[in-house]
Amino acid sequence: MSTHKTKPGKPERLDELLFSQGFGTRRVCAGLIEQGLVRVHDETVTDPGALFAADGLVLEVEGQAWPVQATALVLLNKPAGYECSQKPGAWPSVMLLLPPPLRTRGVQPVGRLDQDTTGALLLTDDGSLIHRLTSPKHHVPKVYEVHTARPVDEAQVKRLREGVVLLDDPVAVHAEGCEIIGPQHLRLTLVQGKYHQVKRMVAAVGNHCEALHRSGFGAIAVPEPPAEADPAPGRWRFVSAAERAALLAAGKGGGKPAPAAG
Ligand code: URA
Repeated sequence: MSTHKTKPGKPERLDELLFSQGFGTRRVCAGLIEQGLVRVHDETVTDPGALFAADGLVLEVEGQAWPVQATALVLLNKPAGYECSQKPGAWPSVMLLLPPPLRTRGVQPVGRLDQDTTGALLLTDDGSLIHRLTSPKHHVPKVYEVHTARPVDEAQVKRLREGVVLLDDPVAVHAEGCEIIGPQHLRLTLVQGKYHQVKRMVAAVGNHCEALHRSGFGAIAVPEPPAEADPAPGRWRFVSAAERAALLAAGKGGGKPAPAAG
């Protein structure tokens, strides 16, 4: 993992900037530049010592645009069949869906989705951001599309809103929001992220979750197919500065749950 962080406002060497973004050792970064594989402001730069201010800088490395981020924050539209664990067992890791520089930076999932859950998964190398976005105290809403085995009804919605007690956990958990979207489709908004929480809550009201998609994380929406999502299923993208600010504002009156497409 790279340890060098960019310094706001102070011009830095291009090889140091690449190093800070996880492109390898300083020697490897200098080599990428000398080989003409790095462009800045639409021009190829071959001097590893060329100076640039990191603020708002977008590098182009081997054709890929790469905004310089002091701490990395990316959004993956997780497909089924991948585990969030760092040391996966039966399924491959979501890390395989990210490019090497992000893995080198040591990004980790912000909370976990089950192997068979799809949709919005944030990853970052900023431990305090992980805490900020996952702690129930900060009330960052996460929206789930729950497809059930049996029909949903108002009695189930009422119980999910009022709170249910899960096996092995005496403290009741409730949904901040719960809407019936279709005969076997609920949209649930939670601010906690306990182990298998959605599946266990749905089981506690006598139904069964057959398929689960996270369609919103704070103000970021990742609708489920056939609606178009950015990124598409299985792809990742950088979280913009405005989206990051909205995530941090969630729970302080900003960052309303994403209006998910049904
Ligand atoms: N709740 C679950 O049960 N599974 C997930 O993947 C996420 C929330």
